[in-house]
Amino acid sequence: MYRIFAYCGSRNPQSRTLQAIVLIQQWLSSLQDSIDTQISWTICTPKDLRILPSDGTAWEFSTGVDRQELLGIDDSGRLKTMIEHCDYLILGSPTYGHNVSGDMKIVMDRLCYWSHLFYLSGKPGMPLVSASTNGYLKVGDMLERFMDSLGIVRDPTAYNTYGMPFENNEAQGAARHILAALTSHEASMPNGYQEELFRSYKRSYIRRNEQNAEYRYWKKHRMFDCDSLAEYFASLPQVEH
Ligand SMILES: Cc1cc2nc3c(=O)[nH]c(=O)nc-3n(C[C@H](O)[C@H](O)[C@H](O)COP(=O)(O)O)c2cc1C
Repeated sequence: MYRIFAYCGSRNPQSRTLQAIVLIQQWLSSLQDSIDTQISWTICTPKDLRILPSDGTAWEFSTGVDRQELLGIDDSGRLKTMIEHCDYLILGSPTYGHNVSGDMKIVMDRLCYWSHLFYLSGKPGMPLVSASTNGYLKVGDMLERFMDSLGIVRDPTAYNTYGMPFENNEAQGAARHILAALTSHEASMPNGYQEELFRSYKRSYIRRNEQNAEYRYWKKHRMFDCDSLAEYFASLPQVEH
């Protein structure tokens, strides 16, 4: 079973971001006959999951523990589990004032400590951005950099704007990318930006004390022993479906 998880950062009942995700889902199900493995989808919006904003303590970076998740006062535990366990991650956001939506930013803030760990290393994914007319490239860039920092191997960003509506052609293309990523037997490769981040984090974290959660994670996963993120990706076990 391949599991796809999509988070759509829009509360709009007529969300064009959500419509684009559903169109990709429909196209992927029409391509599904070409493979033996079933594909399951979970699509969530801020109306399905209550995610509190960061408490601002940055405790999770140094301890590895997200206090709000631990207290069970929101659905962040559920969200993280769905993201961790999926085989393909779609993050879709509307453009609000040339930025991601507030709901998407909250999710990004809450997952930010994962980015210092390349926690989703090798997981394939796709950013998706909706807008009426302007500011969407900046939003695409934000989602791309965020997904890069999590270690995700990205497919091209999908855009749904008035000038470039996301229709059948685009959805079919996106579905083909997803299918190829899910069924690929080739080694996942990080991009240049991810390699640069890896080098800079490695230089910094190796000097930390042994109590620090980032140091401990890097040590446990033998990331300090890797000369590159590509080498780390190659050391990861293959996911069974
Ligand atoms: C608060 C707010 C700010 C917006 N800012 C922009 C913007 O900067 N540029 C733009 O092209 N569209 C902007 N829009 C329009 C939305 O990006 C557009 O309606 C998009 O389809 C929203 O995604 P959704 O349909 O998934 O909710 C804005 C809409 C809202 C509600």
